[in-house]
Amino acid sequence: MTKAFKPRLPLSAAALIGLFPVFQSADAASVASPNGEIVLNCDTDAAGIARYEVLFHGKPVILPSALGFSFTDGSAIADKLEIVDEVQHSFSETYELPWGERRLVENTYNELELTLRQKEAPGLLFTLAFRVYDDGLGFRYEFPEQNGVKALEIADENTQFRFADDPMCWWIPGDWDCYEHLYKKTRLSEIDALDREGLNKPLSSTIPENSVDTPVTMLTSDGVHLSLHEASLLNYSGMTLRVNPQEHMLQSSLVGSRRTEWKARCELPFSTPWRTIQISDTAGGLIDSCLIINLNEPNKLGDVSDYVRPMKYVGIWWEMHLDRNTWAYEGGRHGATTENAKKLIDFATKNNIEGLLVEGWNTGWENWTDPEAREGIFDFTTAYPDYDLAEVARYGKEKGVELIMHHETSAAITTYIDRMDAAFGLMRDLDLHCVKTGHVGDIIPVGEYHHGQWMVNFYQSVYEKAAKYRIAINAHEPIKPTGIRRTYPNAISREGARGQEYNAWSPGSNPPDHVPNLVYTRLLAGPMDYTPGVFNIKLKPYKPDNQLNSTLVKELALYVVLYSPIQMVVDLPEYYEGEPAFQFIRDVPCDWEESHTLNGEVGQYVTIARRERGGDAWFIGSVSDEKPRHFELKLDFLPEGKSYRMVKYADAEDAHWDKNPCAYTVTRSVVTRDSVLTLDLAPGGGAAVALEPID
Ligand code: NOJ
Ligand code: CA
Repeated sequence: MTKAFKPRLPLSAAALIGLFPVFQSADAASVASPNGEIVLNCDTDAAGIARYEVLFHGKPVILPSALGFSFTDGSAIADKLEIVDEVQHSFSETYELPWGERRLVENTYNELELTLRQKEAPGLLFTLAFRVYDDGLGFRYEFPEQNGVKALEIADENTQFRFADDPMCWWIPGDWDCYEHLYKKTRLSEIDALDREGLNKPLSSTIPENSVDTPVTMLTSDGVHLSLHEASLLNYSGMTLRVNPQEHMLQSSLVGSRRTEWKARCELPFSTPWRTIQISDTAGGLIDSCLIINLNEPNKLGDVSDYVRPMKYVGIWWEMHLDRNTWAYEGGRHGATTENAKKLIDFATKNNIEGLLVEGWNTGWENWTDPEAREGIFDFTTAYPDYDLAEVARYGKEKGVELIMHHETSAAITTYIDRMDAAFGLMRDLDLHCVKTGHVGDIIPVGEYHHGQWMVNFYQSVYEKAAKYRIAINAHEPIKPTGIRRTYPNAISREGARGQEYNAWSPGSNPPDHVPNLVYTRLLAGPMDYTPGVFNIKLKPYKPDNQLNSTLVKELALYVVLYSPIQMVVDLPEYYEGEPAFQFIRDVPCDWEESHTLNGEVGQYVTIARRERGGDAWFIGSVSDEKPRHFELKLDFLPEGKSYRMVKYADAEDAHWDKNPCAYTVTRSVVTRDSVLTLDLAPGGGAAVALEPID
């Protein structure tokens, strides 16, 4: 690890050599990325408003944009500010992730810290910290302890992002309760988040204004790819971005609460989450960026390898979404039986799958979404009479399959808080180390929203408590990922977007461009438990009116393209029987040594290559929207002098996501780094490739 002071280029000199325009104010400060391509300027204007601007390749991508807050007592951090101190330094380290898209992450940036003070009472003091990387930048507000101020009650944060043009945006509405929306593509000036057409109606959804959630991804008319998000969201409210169509501007708008006047209350000292701007010439550059995870604190849990285990898992799950079985015991179609679980364990053992998720195992599912009955309905410890929890756990262990527990809280959060110790204690007694949590419905306590500060703190407390019980969390209906998996590596995966489950529900399937949208938006923030692997694309006989808008091979590609350290193998075992394509799912790992995006355009297509953790096998996944694609790709990421046995799973020539989704070919050949890989993707299709080294 190195930490060294790097003198910054004097502003006047930089301006003279035409590197970047600078604010005219005397107090303007500037910092550039290590490669010099991204430049951040910050100053206070004539009214004392703090503003920043961002340039990429010498051209502005963020025009001068104001920074500040309003507070519940009517005061604000807005104007009449002065810069009282300026510090710059550089930092570089390489750290190791216990699991991830890559083992080693480079974290190299130049930092500018400007301390500002209100010239008038109350004279608040705070630091603006800007970290500028080659792949973007992050900035945050840091409030030190100061006399007479115990806490700030934030009515809103007023951070602006003013764009140099009217960029194309891929966005979902700024919903305070739900991220499970389809992405829309419009110019910034045309965003209408209040237009609910095409939006699903989840059990809980609150869209109070014309705002978007993050990550929101953009393409400027200069061909610059941008994505706005936040990193290290702790003890603060989630940030949505309010749309100002006339000024081509987005402005932070924090998620609120009906129980408090403030949107966030923070005791000093505190820092806000980092506001992040990923910047890249290519769409794939956004995917390969490590900005979000870099702007998080290092691992606080130490060695978690004894309980946080990347794995594929099967489940008593899809059959409920298909309505073949039920979560509830009453009605005679209960899915979670000991017998059903054991059958799946046997299936997993035979197919290189190490986990089994069982939903509907515990009492309470008869009326779990009933608004009147939700509180106290689940105790997370009592199994239905036809499910012998201890026996399933024991049998799984004997066969090398770990039972993944399921805690659906139906958003009765206070109930879960009361019962978490008992629930985790039971898992400890049974030697179980992974739980899928879920929070469907409006939050109890009434008045809180899924993405507000109270819930952010709840989600955080679950990771902390779970770590004490050596438990990993796969959260559904979560707070969005902001990279805290680096700090809490038991945050193994989460949902936080519209997943496979929507394909089973009618109406509401995910269109062919959904995955190419997800990869460049939600997935930039961290792993997603999308739950891939459906082979029965038309869902017959269970949901004859509904289907996946995908080819079978595209489902294979998702194991590579949609990164998650735990990947479900979703379909009913009978649909894998006799399918040569199932071999890809048997073989594909979910923990990686390195990852590279080979090509792509936002919302259209992407191809990603990943090398297995601790080994030399490579896997490639490629997906398209509704258009067919022909790619010729260099394999020059492979090492010199090695040959690989390649198995290519491809859409058949006449495959099509609707008309012929299950037609595919499997071809075998030997390749080296000098070979060219040809991929032909059907409309709405994909490709999946396994490369095994020949010794
Ligand atoms: C929603 C989750 O996303 C889904 O996976 C789960 O099966 C249901 N809630 C029931 O808990
Ligand atoms: Ca969900």
